[in-house]
Amino acid sequence: MIATVRKARRLEGEVTVPGDKSISHRALILGSIADGKSRFRGLSSGADVQSTARCMRALGVDITDTSVRGVGMKGLRHPAEPLDCGNSGTTMRLLAGLLSAQRFSTELRGDESLTRRPMDRVVTPLRAMGADARWPPLIVGGQTPLHGIEYRMPVASAQVKSGVLLAGLFADGPTAVIEPIATRNHTEQMLSAMGADVAVEGRRVEVRPADRLGPLEIEIPGDVSAASFWLVASGLVAGSALRIRNVGTNPTRTAFVDLLRACGMMIAISGMRTAGGEQVGELEVAPGPELHPTSVNGSQAAEMIDELPVLAVAASQLPGTSRITGAAELRVKESDRIAAMVEGLSAMGADIKALDDGWVINGPRHLEGARVDSHRDHRVAMALAVAGLLADGATEIEDAECVEISYPGFFDQLESLWR
Ligand code: S3P
Repeated sequence: MIATVRKARRLEGEVTVPGDKSISHRALILGSIADGKSRFRGLSSGADVQSTARCMRALGVDITDTSVRGVGMKGLRHPAEPLDCGNSGTTMRLLAGLLSAQRFSTELRGDESLTRRPMDRVVTPLRAMGADARWPPLIVGGQTPLHGIEYRMPVASAQVKSGVLLAGLFADGPTAVIEPIATRNHTEQMLSAMGADVAVEGRRVEVRPADRLGPLEIEIPGDVSAASFWLVASGLVAGSALRIRNVGTNPTRTAFVDLLRACGMMIAISGMRTAGGEQVGELEVAPGPELHPTSVNGSQAAEMIDELPVLAVAASQLPGTSRITGAAELRVKESDRIAAMVEGLSAMGADIKALDDGWVINGPRHLEGARVDSHRDHRVAMALAVAGLLADGATEIEDAECVEISYPGFFDQLESLWR
């Protein structure tokens, strides 16, 4: 599908973004090994979370949009066929951890993009725990029990951290992960809420083996990474005023909001409350009187890794030179996001140069609509749609249906806000 986006005079209205993708994956996976029925509201309807649901069903778990009937720590069934993780790195890496601790062996497969993504980062610690884990193709499990380890992670990755912690639940002693940079902490929070023994000290997270996990009762907040597209669009299109309801404001996820504020956008968070162990609030965004360029380095990049494609769009409109570095991970996401954003934004007239680990972007530059390629990457497609709202003429985004991965209905919402 080709999506056409035209320049907006302003953006106005209220939106609800899909349920948080990271929390949704974890609710399905952890709920599956709990004792009893977990209930939730606000599960992401995106295709990635559907991939996790499909895999858990193939492992014998009964799942609906609002519940998971947990089978307990030892109740997963050997799947009849290899599991299909679709486009979802989170599904593959979290399940690699969980399934490495099972008495049966499972092969995990994915689409063309996922097949290219690095899995050695999760296989290495799992093997250190004594698991039978191989890649490529990714095959885990059959060799138990696992042993607790202390693992110093070479890359900042919440997916790898979570995979190792999940395996650690089944080990014969404590398992600790030391992160180079603190990443999203939803796994730790949810495990604690389920009664697991999790200790966090700075960037060291330790989990002890568990016999049982209690079921979950959670309200999944809106995805702040999905909200980031509207924050940038409304923070840049003059005269805009937008309200985004019920967004997760977990501090491990909101560094991007602080960064946009420092760039001069007006973002207010109100109605802060805690729902199901996670912080939630309403976001209101409007352009500010003056914009400033930005710089992002290694530790900041990890805290806003999913927001960086749309940050590149913002930087094309900020006066001066913005430097985004320490983000080499972008090269191994659903597409090479560094290259994909250089290609798309350059075609629209932006001054953007690729670095090995980020970009140098000079702004503000006048953008012109162009035909651009999403590279079948949901965040690239949505970032280029935001660029389209700022560009003269029409921007045509190829393979735009990939937004379904994390944001079904994205283009309909865009139309409802467009003035
Ligand atoms: C995620 C972690 C991040 C992020 C992804 C979701 C998670 O990946 O990019 O969209 O839910 O744990 P990495 O941890 O591999 O950086």
